[in-house]
Amino acid sequence: MLLLWVLIIQSTLNWPLPYQALFPHTYQLRKPDKSEHNKTTMTQLPTIQIKPEMRDLYQKAVATPETITHAEKNLIIGRPPPDEEERLCLAKVNLTVPQLREKAITHPEQLTPLEARIIMHGAGYDPAQHWAVDRLEKSLSMRKEDRNLELDARGAVKTRDELRAWMNAEDRLAAWGKERLEELAAKRGHNLSKWPYNRW
Ligand SMILES: *[C@@H]1O[C@H](CO)[C@@H](O)[C@H](O)[C@H]1NC(C)=O
Ligand SMILES: *[C@@H]1O[C@H](CO)[C@@H](O)[C@H](O)[C@H]1NC(C)=O
Ligand SMILES: *[C@@H]1O[C@H](CO)[C@@H](O)[C@H](O)[C@H]1NC(C)=O
Repeated sequence: MLLLWVLIIQSTLNWPLPYQALFPHTYQLRKPDKSEHNKTTMTQLPTIQIKPEMRDLYQKAVATPETITHAEKNLIIGRPPPDEEERLCLAKVNLTVPQLREKAITHPEQLTPLEARIIMHGAGYDPAQHWAVDRLEKSLSMRKEDRNLELDARGAVKTRDELRAWMNAEDRLAAWGKERLEELAAKRGHNLSKWPYNRW
């Protein structure tokens, strides 16, 4: 609900998209298509498109993922360049990127919230940027074909281990979110396992 309000307010004010500023290599603003011109609020969000050189890279990743270098891979999955990613990861959680991945696979229950977020969003992750809202907004501002190409390219370059680490980190974050919600509810005298709350 909150997300929806943020989106409606943002689209009303026509704020510029943070994604274009965050990932200048990847996105540029695009003019809305003529066919989109008279549609409702949601499609009047500022729109972005993939830059031509990134489109070529995505297509190469989908067709021949084995030819993608480490640096190209980081560009595709929206991470800083490898050296920078390694430096940030060490500075933030005192583990190298491979060590953190290993921990997420073998001991996911020991992950801290920051470690889980770094696995999901990269060591460049900054909690002050409203990541979830930005991502949703970005998705709504792209053409479906662009969104699918981006997802396909990301899927093509991720290894099995990276995907497993990612899924474990996501599970941990979801569990923390649930705990936090129950805690807040309990403070207000609700019990979420009881009827009618469990009928949501
Ligand atoms: C959009 O709306 C304007 C009037 O508000 C109308 O003249 C125009 O034909 C519409 N364009 C499309 C593509 O429906
Ligand atoms: C970082 O990890 C190393 C072992 O990998 C340990 O010796 C060191 O004390 C740790 N530093 C901090 C600040 O926790
Ligand atoms: C909430 O309700 C469930 C099921 O009735 C019960 O097992 C649990 O202890 C309750 N939790 C609290 C904090 O009262």
